[in-house]
Amino acid sequence: MADGVADGERPQPRQPWWAGLGGIGRPVVSARVRIIGWMVGVLALALAALVFLTWEVLSARADASADDELTHEANKFRAFAASPAAASFTRPQDLLDRWLQSNLPDDSEAFFTIIDGHEFHRSQGTPPARLDTDPAFVKRLATATEPSYGWVDSAAGKVRYGVLPVRIGTQPVRAQLVVLEFRDVIARPSMDAARALAIIAAITLVLAAGACWLVTGRVLAPIRQLRATAERIGETDLRRRIEVVGNDDVAQLAGTFNTMLDRLEEAFDAQREFVDNAGHELRTPITVIRGHLELMGDDPAERAETKALVLDELARMNRMVDDLLVLAKSDRPDFLQLDEVDFTDLVVEVVAKARALGDRRWRVHTTADATYVADGQRLTQALMQLVSNAVRHTKPGDRIEVGSHLDADGSALLWVADSGPGVSPDDRERIFDRFARGGGQRRTDGAGLGLAIVRSILRAHGGDVRLAPGPGARFELTLPAAGPGGGTVEDPHR
Ligand SMILES: Nc1ncnc2c1ncn2[C@@H]1O[C@H](COP(=O)(O)OP(=O)(O)OP(=O)(O)O)[C@@H](O)[C@H]1O
Ligand SMILES: [Mg+2]
Repeated sequence: MADGVADGERPQPRQPWWAGLGGIGRPVVSARVRIIGWMVGVLALALAALVFLTWEVLSARADASADDELTHEANKFRAFAASPAAASFTRPQDLLDRWLQSNLPDDSEAFFTIIDGHEFHRSQGTPPARLDTDPAFVKRLATATEPSYGWVDSAAGKVRYGVLPVRIGTQPVRAQLVVLEFRDVIARPSMDAARALAIIAAITLVLAAGACWLVTGRVLAPIRQLRATAERIGETDLRRRIEVVGNDDVAQLAGTFNTMLDRLEEAFDAQREFVDNAGHELRTPITVIRGHLELMGDDPAERAETKALVLDELARMNRMVDDLLVLAKSDRPDFLQLDEVDFTDLVVEVVAKARALGDRRWRVHTTADATYVADGQRLTQALMQLVSNAVRHTKPGDRIEVGSHLDADGSALLWVADSGPGVSPDDRERIFDRFARGGGQRRTDGAGLGLAIVRSILRAHGGDVRLAPGPGARFELTLPAAGPGGGTVEDPHR
């Protein structure tokens, strides 16, 4: 490799720090963080909007009340200036002093007067901030010849001011009354309430996050257990189950998971047993072959006998391997090659082939002069397994019947019946299992795979095989109306 780094040693790309939060990596932890993130995020937005709106409304109200106060004071002064008591003053400073003496400002107010461009007197009490000592401000207001209003900043926050020029008779304006409304002082109680609201919102957010952490922890605990159990489950430890508590969604999930584990365990057990049995069955002919080859002498007759025996055992092994392959393939989707199958042809063909197996009274019984969509080769294979069993369990001269029947509803029936001893009641179900032989069967009679193959072929078609009640043995293959090809049944004579 050009860079001299082996594939396995290549450094992993670094995960961004947020990868664990978004669902990559550890899903359960990130699910918890994600849920809390969403909940706290939405709540934080809502609370922030609430605090912000409250603050804005209260600010607007404070501005409005500063304005109102100013208008009120200005009106009061105008009323005083227009009153008969004020008419006696000839100098504006006397008029203003009189007004300052008779008007005490609130805590959030202050008045001062300007005479000839300079601060003259101020109202009693201590104002929240001094603006009368600001020469630039005073100088600017002293130029006012008409009432005017504005905002100015002070050490005590925003101030709404109004300047009211005073003119006596026809004299030029040389005096002003300045009214100051300390807007931040007016707003203080409402702003304190808004601040308290913000603190309560922050505490609520923290508490909600904590509660959410606890609740999600409880809700997700079974899922964490589910994951931990799933992680621990190896092929060797399929017995573990999840504890199902309650009857909620999570409990149902755990139940479903347990059911799936049951099925998996069953499947693994069956597979293990199958492999064990297959190994065991194949080991026997190998042992037989080895034993005979080891003991084989030089005598030509003995050699010929051993050769025949070895070939026979190998043929048996070959058959067994073929059967095992059929069983292994039977779960695959390409197991069946569907085509239209003529049941009369099928049955006649099977009996023709079977005649070579033994001298029996062979009978063909068919009413199904129609076609069924199925895999003809696999059905022949199933029927051949049944007739070879029938031959094995009957004697020369016994009757063996192969038949087919097609119902009007489209379902079909194929059967193989013989006049032999039949199957003992104890074995009726068992014989369909893999490697299951009936009682009293010798090993050399067969591996016990025949009926298992028949069953898997029929199940692949959506049907099944069953053993009908005696006398003799009658194996019936049932094929459904809606078969693997959709149950298409065509009867040329109907
Ligand atoms: N026609 C029958 N009459 C009586 N018993 C039968 C008949 N067919 C099957 N059986 C019983 O069912 C058992 C299982 O049959 P199956 O075909 O699965 O295995 P097998 O014939 O023993 O071996 P293989 O088919 O693998 O050579 C047989 O061992 C036998 O006991
Ligand atoms: Mg058989």
